[in-house]
Amino acid sequence: MKETPGTTGLIFNEPLLWEKGKTGRTAFSLPRRDVERQPVDKNLKGNGPDFPDLSEVDIVRHYIRLSQWNFSVDSGMYPLGSCTMKYNPKTNERQSALPGFAMAHPLLPKSLSQGVLQLMYELEQYLTEITGMDATTLQPAAGAHGELTGMLLIYAYLKSKGTPRSKILVPDTAHGTNPASASLCGYRSIPVKSNERGVLSPQVVDELMDEDTAGIMVTNPNTLGLFEENIKAVADIVHARGGLVYCDGANMNAVMGIVNMRELGIDVLHLNLHKTFSSPHGGGGPGSGPVCVRKELEPFLPVPRVMTKRGKYELSEDFPDSIGKVHAFYGNVGVMIRAYSYIMSMGPDGLKKASQLAVLNAAYIKDNLKGTFHLPYDRPCMHECVFSDKLQEPYKVTTLDMVKRLMDYGFHPPTIYFPLVVPGAIMIEPTETESKEDIDLFIESMKAIAKEAREHPEMLHAAPRHTRRRRLDETAAARKPCLSG
Ligand SMILES: Cc1ncc(COP(=O)(O)O)c(C=O)c1O
Repeated sequence: MKETPGTTGLIFNEPLLWEKGKTGRTAFSLPRRDVERQPVDKNLKGNGPDFPDLSEVDIVRHYIRLSQWNFSVDSGMYPLGSCTMKYNPKTNERQSALPGFAMAHPLLPKSLSQGVLQLMYELEQYLTEITGMDATTLQPAAGAHGELTGMLLIYAYLKSKGTPRSKILVPDTAHGTNPASASLCGYRSIPVKSNERGVLSPQVVDELMDEDTAGIMVTNPNTLGLFEENIKAVADIVHARGGLVYCDGANMNAVMGIVNMRELGIDVLHLNLHKTFSSPHGGGGPGSGPVCVRKELEPFLPVPRVMTKRGKYELSEDFPDSIGKVHAFYGNVGVMIRAYSYIMSMGPDGLKKASQLAVLNAAYIKDNLKGTFHLPYDRPCMHECVFSDKLQEPYKVTTLDMVKRLMDYGFHPPTIYFPLVVPGAIMIEPTETESKEDIDLFIESMKAIAKEAREHPEMLHAAPRHTRRRRLDETAAARKPCLSG
């Protein structure tokens, strides 16, 4: 099937602003001069900056066109599994841009920073309550940074008891950053194989957990989108051998207000505010990976910590066992403000409902695409579901071909080839913010792509067809990025 080029309704031939400029065009009009003309200071020599002359409409159309070539959660569904790319209510942006917050400097005296300190203090309390843990630090700047902080806390705690130990158990369904964070802290990761149900088996943990193992790092819900149903039994085994349980809570969007992590036996947990608590993310923008801990680990939390004294908020460094600072100043405050605003506007019932809807939406997709795509773990899922390209293998169509084609249908591709336990994985996380109509459209599109795979595989090999850039050499794009054209 051939399509005429340029049938996307978008203009792709957009020159640089310098090429667009024409002498004499302008995007401003100044009021008539009512003072005497003055010569320019003769010490100011040389030409002015090389800026093009442009009209207002030239500039506006240029940037709007560029934005149309890109995909965003504001323009469509972004079902990137393990990333929780949900729509972020604009009110949270507005609150973080309030001049009192946006203009606050971290070196301001505490007497002039009471508002932001109060917000941080209360956000710590809310996150502690939502997770069921005992204390929280907001300092880490991302999920992986939270993991490293958590590992440092475990190291410091175990060292205070005698020895920090040298190994850590990491299940094959953990997020890829987990073993990296453990290594950065000096721990050797010991892989743990999940069972045929896609979750941890207590017997396997029992065999591996020895006196030199600091504990286990579990992602729950795990990267198959499954709840670790044996987590309590696993935690009991780890604790009985003197270890600690770390939970990667970046998938908290599935269980807010539903699961008490402390009661599951978790000692240390990180959250991704930029995933669960409404900050735009992707593209390397600022994040926030708070770490919540059980009481016994609180003395080791990073400093400074926000405290209250006689109704005033202050920062205290007076924690002799602290692991120290993990971020300049106090962390990424703009992300914290958005999270605070999100939590306040949702309330406890709203957060719980969001998780219930996130799970319902993923389950709906799983049930509707089952049979069209191979479902390796046919079990109730949490916030995401994982398919594979096994049923498309006979047509020589791969996961990559199909998700590239999905871009032509107006959707961002899901996460692919992850988790590694599923060859050719397609990991779909719709989130709670999608309507049934949009999810149905996604399902229809995926089914249409499966039909194309059977009938016109060549079409998928050539996808995407309607984007500014066609299929990229992704390795070259990562290794030798060309950022100018
Ligand atoms: C389960 C899980 N853990 C950890 C991370 C790492 O978070 P970050 O990218 O903020 O470092 C992610 C990121 O997507 C994740 O999905």
